Amino acid sequence: MPPRWRASQLALTACAAVMLLNLGAPKTLLDLCDFVAATSYKHYGRDVECFDCFAGKGAVGSAFRLNGCKTVSQDLEMGPAHDLASTPGFLRAILNVLRCVPDGVLVMGPPCGSFVFMNLGTSRRSEHRPYGDESLPHVEMGSLLCSRALLLLLLATVRGVYTVLEQPGTSTMRYYPDLKAVAAAIQKHLGGKSWLTQYMWMGAWGAPTLKPTRVWGTPPWICNLYAKPSKSLRKKLLANSKRLKITFKKTKNGQTSVCGGPGLAATAAYPDGFGRRVFELYQMNKDHNGLQLLAKIKVAFALVQAKKTKCAKWKGAWRKANVAVLKRFVTKAAEKGLFQPIGPVNDREPYTYG
Ligand SMILES: C[S@@+](CC[C@H](N)C(=O)[O-])C[C@H]1O[C@@H](n2cnc3c(N)ncnc32)[C@H](O)[C@@H]1O
Repeated sequence: MPPRWRASQLALTACAAVMLLNLGAPKTLLDLCDFVAATSYKHYGRDVECFDCFAGKGAVGSAFRLNGCKTVSQDLEMGPAHDLASTPGFLRAILNVLRCVPDGVLVMGPPCGSFVFMNLGTSRRSEHRPYGDESLPHVEMGSLLCSRALLLLLLATVRGVYTVLEQPGTSTMRYYPDLKAVAAAIQKHLGGKSWLTQYMWMGAWGAPTLKPTRVWGTPPWICNLYAKPSKSLRKKLLANSKRLKITFKKTKNGQTSVCGGPGLAATAAYPDGFGRRVFELYQMNKDHNGLQLLAKIKVAFALVQAKKTKCAKWKGAWRKANVAVLKRFVTKAAEKGLFQPIGPVNDREPYTYG
């Protein structure tokens, strides 16, 4: 039996914790947050305006940093301690989310390799088979990272932090059961307009090709990530696609599929213009509509308390998030006393993830 934890060690308010569970998160996520709170969060506080997760080249984080906003980034390329598939890496990501200020932004483009059209022949992902060929390690890794990214999204949401989730236009992630359920749960509890989807062109923000892209998430400004490329820009970007041997085809179901030569990988990074646009929209929203998400969470909490809304549940929830491993970790940590507050939490050394 894990010991009872002192209130000072709890990462989340009652409202955030209750809403996290009601939006369908597993209880282990609460335990992980409390572990992070007891071991390091108190050393930091809430001061981060942007968490650039799966940051890659880091265009979004850079835009915030250049404008004087505190930013944290995480990507496997930064070292194994940043690996979201590992327990320490996931704990680091939880800490990064907990550090975000209300109205802050979490931007995530989880690895799309096994979700995109070009890989479907191997991954076998489809609307009717969203987990694809579960015997393939890269497909399982794609699912694990997607599920864990969605857990972070829920945590960010109950903390009043907006999330932008990004994928290439053809990504089958839109059929992913946890994503569909999370979207439905947010809409049910926080209102229909609290979850938005937008199709956009990364080329309009400076990508070398048109790069059709889909963004989902909680920011009310997400639709403003769309900008129509001018005729001349379109022409130039299509010429670039030809040079990079990237071709667009209409598929049977009306989708645009993208096929590419070796140059395609070079287009994966967000252009600087996209980072600047996210920052601009964040800033405008903060100035004019501040703390709206937090207010919605509080209203939803009141409705849950009045028993007017039920907890979100779906079949097979989080089956790919490897929650069992995380659960074993927190249970062991509690048994070892890592959770037990011996004196004020602030006096202790922060836990080093990885
Ligand atoms: C689709 S790319 C995101 C590109 C990025 N937004 C950019 O602008 O460069 C996915 C990113 O996820 C990172 N990644 C892959 N596996 C990861 C893992 N297990 N943990 C953390 N990051 C991972 C990759 O290094 C890559 O940069």
